[in-house]
Amino acid sequence: MNFKIKQISVTEIKSDLLIVNLFEGTTLPGGATGAVDKELSNAISDFVIKKEHFTGEFGKMYVLPVPNHKILTKVLIVGLGKRDEFTLNRLRVLASKVIQKVKTMENVKNVVSMLHGAGCAGFDPAACAKTIVEGIMIGGFSFDKYKSDVKPTVENFTIAEFDKKNYDKAVIGFEKGLLIGDTINYARELINEPAQNITPAYLADIAENLDLDEVKIYERIDIENMQMGAFAAVAQGSAHSPRFIHMEYMPKKAKKKIVIIGKGITFDAGGLNLKPASSMLTMKDDMSGAAAVLSIMRNIKKFKPNVEVHALIAACENMPSGSSYKQGDIVTAMNGKTIEIDNTDAEGRLTLADALCYAQQLNPDVIIDIATLTGACMVALGSVASGILGNNDELVKKLIKCGNDGGERLWEMPMYPEYFDTLKSDVADMKNSGGRGGGTTVAALFLQNFVDSETPWAHIDIAGTSVIDNAVLENPKGATGVGVRTILNYILGD
Ligand code: BES
Ligand code: MN
Ligand code: ZN
Repeated sequence: MNFKIKQISVTEIKSDLLIVNLFEGTTLPGGATGAVDKELSNAISDFVIKKEHFTGEFGKMYVLPVPNHKILTKVLIVGLGKRDEFTLNRLRVLASKVIQKVKTMENVKNVVSMLHGAGCAGFDPAACAKTIVEGIMIGGFSFDKYKSDVKPTVENFTIAEFDKKNYDKAVIGFEKGLLIGDTINYARELINEPAQNITPAYLADIAENLDLDEVKIYERIDIENMQMGAFAAVAQGSAHSPRFIHMEYMPKKAKKKIVIIGKGITFDAGGLNLKPASSMLTMKDDMSGAAAVLSIMRNIKKFKPNVEVHALIAACENMPSGSSYKQGDIVTAMNGKTIEIDNTDAEGRLTLADALCYAQQLNPDVIIDIATLTGACMVALGSVASGILGNNDELVKKLIKCGNDGGERLWEMPMYPEYFDTLKSDVADMKNSGGRGGGTTVAALFLQNFVDSETPWAHIDIAGTSVIDNAVLENPKGATGVGVRTILNYILGD
């Protein structure tokens, strides 16, 4: 899909489908929708609203064919819902639903849309354009590179805005929306790609080819030399050797230094504590955190934030084999702490432990990790919100706001120290799992052992949100690229 924005009236631009809108309860539309109504001899107000009783309820859509018109073919009237309930987050959901509907229509190659939200609702045109483009890109995404017959779909999506002032602002938002949409969708591509292709070496290869200030790749021997005993243990059962990836973006006068870490298990079979088939089925997505940070770093020079960003991925597979780590093994993380292996399927926290130690050595102002870490988080929050925990209230609150501003929901889970009791070991400093309750908190408390208490740190658990079985808000089913918007907003806002 090609995206365009043009300074032109919606009644003067040729299309296969023109998208206009209606607030709930409107009887006589104004603005661009009003102009189209006039052009069509009041077909919208007299026919669609009065005769067909289209009320403009949120998310409802009406397709109005326009026979024998010079430039219009069909008009899609979209319900914006109640005026006082309209938000940018709602607009993003709407844009996603619109493109999903449009994709089911025949012979629609050139779509033109008015700039929803800026006129009647009075929102900032830049924010509206950004949000619409995001919604269209999020909703329009499909992973079909391995399908033989792909139906032709929308070729051009053009936003038309007549007012020069609004247009000038909208262009800026439009460009941002494209970049954010691209970042989300690239993460989704990586998540969807099967584990046979996404090996640790492949992720390292992608990282090395990004436009960044520096990329360091550590191989197995380097990982051992750095004393990353926890990460190395997880990796030792796989035929694919691990990589530790460190990507750096260093602008000249950076205000602060942020480290982002993505869990990068390219396949989680569970190790010797093998997962049942139904749980293993989706485990190519256990690198969703890595996909989010990799995708952010891929576009970071275009976003140009004024902060130093270091992105880390401890990439490996968690496989059962003759060389796998075992229950009862005692491993030593980079900071010298010892861990008794209680369950080889609690591998993500082991890889993150060493990544956190490495992050700490960079002396950052903030550390954020994002991981498909616990089934418990999926049980607690389902696919509607990600879990967030950390050692610094201000950072956690800020990330929740960054997420919500971008349409991603984060829900804070407790960090009561008593939850750690189940990780007490008779032979080592701690176990990597134990007990059944409070799994998301237990995992986060485990991670906290590898972060200095003075360094603000937050952990985002996306086990339930990274890949979804049913649509949630603007995300269709499948990989969501969750975390991209939260972390980007944080990086760009600081
Ligand atoms: N990658 C899984 C967590 C997961 C589960 C992600 C479902 C997405 C969907 C993680 O490595 C794992 O296996 N966690 C175990 C930990 C347990 C053994 C303490 C879990 O949650 O069951
Ligand atoms: Mn696991
Ligand atoms: Zn895992």
